[in-house]
Amino acid sequence: MKSNIMVIFGGSGDLAKRKLIPALYMLHKKSLLEQSFKIVATGRSEISSESYRSIAAEALSQYLKKSDYDEKVVGSFLNRLFYKISDPESVIDVKSLGEFLDKISGNEPKVLYYLATPPSLYEIIPGNLKSAGMVSSSSRIIVEKPFGYDLDSAIRMNDILRSVFSEKQIFRIDHFLGKETVQNILALRFANGIFEPLWNRNYIDRVEITAVENMGIEGRGGFYENTGALRDMVQNHLVQLLALVAMEPPIAFNEKEFRNEIVKVYRSLKPLSKKEIEKNVIRGQYVESFLKGGERVSSYREEKSVNPSSTTETFLAMKVNISNWRWDGVPFYIRTGKQMPTKVTEIIIHFKPTPHKLFSSRNESPEQNQLIIRLQPNEGAVLKFDVKIPGSGFEIKQVPMEFTYDKLGGVQSGDAYSRLIEDCLNGESALFTRSDAVEASWIYFDPILKSWKLNEKIPLYGYPAGTWGPEESEIIIEGQKHWSNPCKNLTDTDKYCEL
Ligand code: BG6
Repeated sequence: MKSNIMVIFGGSGDLAKRKLIPALYMLHKKSLLEQSFKIVATGRSEISSESYRSIAAEALSQYLKKSDYDEKVVGSFLNRLFYKISDPESVIDVKSLGEFLDKISGNEPKVLYYLATPPSLYEIIPGNLKSAGMVSSSSRIIVEKPFGYDLDSAIRMNDILRSVFSEKQIFRIDHFLGKETVQNILALRFANGIFEPLWNRNYIDRVEITAVENMGIEGRGGFYENTGALRDMVQNHLVQLLALVAMEPPIAFNEKEFRNEIVKVYRSLKPLSKKEIEKNVIRGQYVESFLKGGERVSSYREEKSVNPSSTTETFLAMKVNISNWRWDGVPFYIRTGKQMPTKVTEIIIHFKPTPHKLFSSRNESPEQNQLIIRLQPNEGAVLKFDVKIPGSGFEIKQVPMEFTYDKLGGVQSGDAYSRLIEDCLNGESALFTRSDAVEASWIYFDPILKSWKLNEKIPLYGYPAGTWGPEESEIIIEGQKHWSNPCKNLTDTDKYCEL
């Protein structure tokens, strides 16, 4: 059963403007929305539907790719949009929102609610929808991340949501799962016969997962101060990537089997002792720096709505171990950070070296075979392997074999939010996080937050904006190895790395 109305709580907020409105426009452009489908943005601000359409038009011209923007299509899309003022904390207001939905839907509304509000409201809105009689078996709800502030709040939020909606109606969104290349990890692993036999502790030395950005918090100080890198990126996006790399092949690609395998990975994460948290989890915060041209980049503590003595982490690097048959002893290194030299998200599978060094010149190259799965920029995959340099002697050199999505010719990888909203409208939940997965992930990460809170001696390292984070993050890598420098793996986007 398809939803015929989408209600966006937090309708005039940043997420709605940057991601949701453009994603819905793309679905409209591809004729993936039903003729009668309507979108109702709601919030406390007093805005007429007319003015909201202007705000949306402005957002579309700002956030859509130029090639996607089409004046005529924008015009027809805006006709689907409405704005209704309502305080989500007031049942009376929520009721009047319900009356509005009845009025514009023309028939029985099958509503998809989208919570794009501050997380504190996630615990209030579901109950108010229920009290206002606005929940039926055809309703659905999308909840943005971070889902929970810690383990206890995640359990509480799950309880609240499930007291109003059934698990099938709840869609916990993690937009990384809507990215084409993220889904391609599954194709790479399970549609090819050549990788899976090597995909284990016998052949893989370590796995690196990097998701860094070359920007700060973009005016989201109020949100970020209470979030930090662990809650914003690691507990959801990065652990999700780790799960896709580490999961066992599901017996079928359906929502139950696929999500069962994800949960199994989370349950296999080896709990960190207090000592390991101090040793293997490195947090940092960017401090001021000066770029090559002399331009000053301000520190995190100078950002708007940030406490001048804030201890919120804007960088996190850690070593994760998985206790299971396939991965025992293989470290997974994950790192994320704001104000780094480039925006890149990639996974590197480092294979073990050959057992015998036949070519003396091979010893000079420290890197063994690598499979790089790049989520952005230049979505694609690179396999690095050794070849002989033509000519006399036996010089060995590592070369990349590269696939990028733009080579598929004409097939564009879609936007993550469009894909996920479309799935939700169709009631498909495989790419959304199940309640047990959220809790299993929090069971692993919650002790880190507790340790930071209880032990102020755990350092928060400063790193100059535009660098690869605190040097201390190198310490967690075992042996004579280092974090890869993603700038070296990018072939035609080196401009990002000039800082
Ligand atoms: C969001 C985080 O979930 O993901 C942001 O809240 C972050 O802080 C963003 O910038 C990164 O997503 P993407 O798709 O731009 O890599």
